[in-house]
Amino acid sequence: MSKVEITILKDGPYLVQGEITLKDGSGSAFSNLKDSTALCRCGHSKNKPFCDGAHKTAGFKSEVKAV
Ligand code: FES
Repeated sequence: MSKVEITILKDGPYLVQGEITLKDGSGSAFSNLKDSTALCRCGHSKNKPFCDGAHKTAGFKSEVKAV
């Protein structure tokens, strides 16, 4: 299994890099995922769970620092 990396982008999505399986609450997998997937964390995307760029127009602000 290859390593998956998740980066919390400033004022933006979770950037997931690596091969993943993403499932909905019923266990069905999303298809056609790429090696780099942006997951919405602002709640404004019209294509959840994926980021569609709406965080920019929504003015989403969040910067997370690892401690
Ligand atoms: S983080 Fe980009 S649309 Fe929500």
